[in-house]
Amino acid sequence: MLRRLHPEQPDSFAFTAANQQWAEAQITKYPEGRQASAVIPLLWRAQEQEGWLSRPAIESVADMLGMAYIRVLEVASFYFMFQLQPVGSVAHIQVCGTTSCMICGAEDLIAVCKEKIAAKPHELSADGKLSWEEVECLGSCTNAPMAQIGKDYYEDLTAESFGKIVDDLVAGKVPVPGPQNGRYAAEPLKGLTSLTEYDSGRTQYNASVQLASDLGDTVKRIDGTEVPILTPWLDKDGKAAASKAAPQPPKVPAPGKTAAQQSGTKKSGHKEPASPEGAAAKSDSPEVQEPQPETLTAARDGKPDDLKMLKGVGPKLEETLNELGFYHFDQISKWTPEHVAWVDARLKFKGRIERDGWIEQAAKLAAGEETEFAKRAKEDGTYED
Ligand code: FES
Repeated sequence: MLRRLHPEQPDSFAFTAANQQWAEAQITKYPEGRQASAVIPLLWRAQEQEGWLSRPAIESVADMLGMAYIRVLEVASFYFMFQLQPVGSVAHIQVCGTTSCMICGAEDLIAVCKEKIAAKPHELSADGKLSWEEVECLGSCTNAPMAQIGKDYYEDLTAESFGKIVDDLVAGKVPVPGPQNGRYAAEPLKGLTSLTEYDSGRTQYNASVQLASDLGDTVKRIDGTEVPILTPWLDKDGKAAASKAAPQPPKVPAPGKTAAQQSGTKKSGHKEPASPEGAAAKSDSPEVQEPQPETLTAARDGKPDDLKMLKGVGPKLEETLNELGFYHFDQISKWTPEHVAWVDARLKFKGRIERDGWIEQAAKLAAGEETEFAKRAKEDGTYED
């Protein structure tokens, strides 16, 4: 099946305040330069909030993680758990159509979907409340046929019981998940044949269903207020907890200043960057001794190089580099390891300079040579950010 961005897209996407805080906390789980590791949790949270992943949502996650949009789209379009088209406002129903379920009646369930929801998978019902699709084995084969609705499994279904569940959802009810034929869990249909002593004293439902019922968020859109953030190294406001030994940011001078400049010695002919990129531009940043690379107040002859020809640099990073006083490939090609540390400390996401080999690329481009990436970028009009 082709998985593409939906032709109709919303204008924008924004996490709710609570989800934004949750997402930022997730990013702190990973070391500097590895923020991309949070891509799946963030995409998933965006989908939990909106029901599906729109282009603005994908781009927003990419911006938060400093990833190229195409890289995040690759993840979103690879995993079938991500919905790339609008889903029902109440629920998206996933009917298992694999062997056990098919033998036990999955086709009857799909017929119910076609009759009560929409003729084709991924189409919205007339009232916009439901959508459906057939999926591969969901690992509940002993309770076939089954369907996942929202976050929970509905098992041991018949066309009749499934149809009733669909009707209840449309009516605003949330049916109890789990086996729908009286079974407690996955015991034999005729009842327990062993371990019968454990049959008494059990909770009303099996553990999964009990928890699902207690949480009560089977088909709820998650706005971030439901669950704790679970990042104990942060306090409830998302700041590093004072009592914890949270990792400290590297010691960096205030933006645009070397340690010498901060102590009053100005480096002549060099630009004081106006507003370098976000995180590093904190006025309370402590000092370090890295020497500042050569910066300019403007491009020579008003003709900056197209820094987007460097793999790993897109429009936003180019703007940041310009603000820091870098306009030309030859400037970047002369960076020493200390200069790299100086620049890195002013970028939102560290490690890109070395990881993407900016200096080697810049040296080639400054010498009038071509790099594979620059060649491709010129041909396709693509770039990274
Ligand atoms: S075959 Fe349907 S859950 Fe495994």
